[in-house]
This record gives sequence, C-alpha cells and structure tokens, in this order.
Amino acid sequence: MLKPEQNRALMEVGPGTLMGELLRRYWLPFGAVGELDKQATRPVRLLGEDLVVYKDLSGNLGLVDRHCPHRRADLSYGWVEECGLRCNYHGWKFDHTGACVHQPFEQVAHPDARFKERITIKSYPVQAHAGLLWAYLGPPPAPLVPNWDPFTWGNGFVQIVMTEIPCNWFQCQENSIDPVHFEWLHDSWGMRLRGQLDGPTPPAHLRIRFNEFDYGFQYQRVREGQSEEDELWTVGRVCLWPNCLFTGNHFEWRVPVDDTTTLSVGWFFDRVPEEMEPFRQERIPWWYGPLTDTKTGRWLDSHVMNQDFVAWVGQGTQADRTQEHLGESDRGVILMRRRMLEEAEVVRQGGEPKAVIRDPAANKRVELPIIDRDFFLAGYSITDVVEGRARGPRYARNFVFQAGQPEEITREYRAAMGMDRVEQLELAARSTNGTSQ
Ligand code: FES
Ligand SMILES: [Fe+2]
Repeated sequence: MLKPEQNRALMEVGPGTLMGELLRRYWLPFGAVGELDKQATRPVRLLGEDLVVYKDLSGNLGLVDRHCPHRRADLSYGWVEECGLRCNYHGWKFDHTGACVHQPFEQVAHPDARFKERITIKSYPVQAHAGLLWAYLGPPPAPLVPNWDPFTWGNGFVQIVMTEIPCNWFQCQENSIDPVHFEWLHDSWGMRLRGQLDGPTPPAHLRIRFNEFDYGFQYQRVREGQSEEDELWTVGRVCLWPNCLFTGNHFEWRVPVDDTTTLSVGWFFDRVPEEMEPFRQERIPWWYGPLTDTKTGRWLDSHVMNQDFVAWVGQGTQADRTQEHLGESDRGVILMRRRMLEEAEVVRQGGEPKAVIRDPAANKRVELPIIDRDFFLAGYSITDVVEGRARGPRYARNFVFQAGQPEEITREYRAAMGMDRVEQLELAARSTNGTSQ
C-alpha cells in the first residue's frame, strides 16, 4: 500500500514534477508520421504541455508551443511555409528551432529594429522513426531515438494504432508487468464474452518471476501444460522502460498526455510469407481505435487491448493505491514502482537515469528479449501456413489487438500477407481431404 504522496508522485507528469522530469529524459512516440500528410499541423498535448507539431514545405518537422508568443493565438491553425510555421492571426513566423523569423508589420514599421531577435517560441526536438513521430521534452543534449530491433526488420506489414484513454498513464504501465492478468482479463473473460461458459478453463499460472535488465524488466511465467523449457519462462515478455510493453513483434506505449489522460500507441509488425517478398511499405498505415460501443455506451471489450483499457479506466481516472491489497501476483508492479521512484530520484539529483541511449554504435540495433525471434528473421512460406507450421500469432488472420481496424487497412494487410492465396489453398486441401474420406 502506498502513501498518498507516493501515489501522487507516480502519476504527476507536468514540468518540475518527480516523474515528469524522469519521463522528460526519453523520446516519447506521440503520433504517426502519415498524419502530417493529410494536415500539416496538429495540436499535441504531451506531459501536460500544449504544443503543435507540423511539417513545413521543406519537410522539416517542428514541435512548438501551441500558443503564439505575440498574443497567444492557436498555432495549430497556422500554416506551413518553405521553412517554418506562420501564425494565422498577424503573420508572425517561427522555424523549428523556435526562432521568430518574420514579423510582417513590425518589420515595415521599424525596419531597423531587431524586435524579432528577442522573440522565441518554446520548441522541442521531434523526429520521425519507424513510422512514428517522437518528441523529446527534456534538457539538451537529446539522446538518440531508440532503434529497437524490430524497427530494423524487413518484409513486415507494420501498422500504428492509437487511442486516447481517460486515465493516468502509470496504471496503464503497471499492466505491462502483470502476467497473471492475461489468464483472467483476456483468457477467462474473453471466453465468457464469447459465450463459452462450460469449456475447459484456461491454463492457470503456476510460477512467475521478474528480472531487470538494461532496458526494463522481463516477466516470465509457467502456466499449466508448459514447462521451464518454454520460452515464456526462459525469455518471457518485456516491460520496456519507461512506458511500454513489448511482446516480440509489437510495442504498446502508454504515453502521458497529462495527469488524467494517456495516449495508447501501438506498433505492430507482421512478417509476410516469403512468396510476398520483397515487401516494402511506401507509407506505414495508422488509425485511431474507438474506445466505446456507440450502441450501448459501454467500453468496447472484444479485442485484447480494449480489454486492457477496460481494466485501466476501471481503476479510476487516477488509481488510488492507498486502497490496494497487493499479493504475490503484484511483485512486478511493486518492483517497477520502486525502480521508477529510484530513477526519478537519480534525475532529481542531476544524474542520468537508466535506458537513455546516446551511443550511435549501440543504437544501430538495440536487441531485446524476443520469443521466437528466428521466425521473424528467417520467415516462412505460404505452404508453412497451409500445412499448419505458421499459425496463430505468427500468421494472424484478423487484427486481434484493437477493435475498429478500417476496412482499407484490413484489405492492405490481407494483400500483403497473401491471404487470398492461403485461403484458396486451404479450401483446395479441405475438398481433397473431403473426397478422400
Ligand atoms: S497572435 Fe500570432 S501573430 Fe499575433
Ligand atoms: Fe493485457
């Protein structure tokens, strides 16, 4: 059980707060690169700060204060030019470093004055990587945007899925180090939601353990029917420092918008069959997943991450950890809370916290513990799929993680995965089997 002040410390993300300053030492993904192709400016709220991201006509990305330093107009309604963003109210213009580069009337009225040199707008580094937009809101020098191993893989269909969740980020991240919830929130509840009331119960968790490494924690489990030789025990899943879950071929970041809102950012990789190689994406598709069922007004519960969202929002806008009763299943959560507060203290004392990447050689490809990594590198054939050697999560027929995938992305995915061909061959195999019986 936590004291109220510890609970608050874990949840506050604004400038100058303990956890806010820790999170400002890392690059945070906050959108998809493709969003700026449709509309070159958009508002961003991140760590309690109101900002605008834009792509100017030269392709520079900028992330600046949402409010113009002249008289505070909303720069998300400004327009982009060759170099920079111009305010729609009186035309002041800013570049991506935050410099004011043009003040139309001031320059006419006082051509010799140097007013604009005294004006800057708050600006932060922003980068595009792996189809995501990343921001760094901390002190310079900015570290490197992590080049996680899966970002370097080829021949994969990647999609980005985002949803804004009306609760604090930290309870979302606690879910990233909570193996036992899988058996209940996803397996058991999932069965009930599908109306499977009297089948066998999902395999129970028998053992769990947690272990810290350079980029977070591994959590490992043995469930009924599995052994300690299984990769779920020897490798496990990764609670990626500071705000992500990594399961091998997908990342789920829990990005703090402010103290009461979190942006869930998912990055999903599906290896295409070798018959579809070489496969390259011109643009990485992205979509915003809905949160509620418009017919019933209840939270959507049909997909894995939607079920997680139900648990998180159910804990309250800000979980009250003074009212909890933690048990053995929560050892990972306890470990993560302690380590977060310790690393926040390192920052408070002027030090560098864990998992900040500054060495370009180390960042060529940052490896993480991955179950079945060979599969993603070596690939598989359509025959492997048809004959059952690449099933389940290796060759997903549907997007199981979030509800609401737009039809055009479903179509792109099916085409990339050669799914028509797979289904034809499966049909042919079934009718051959049928006639021979
Ligand atoms: S408020 Fe932006 S130029 Fe005046
Ligand atoms: Fe989950």
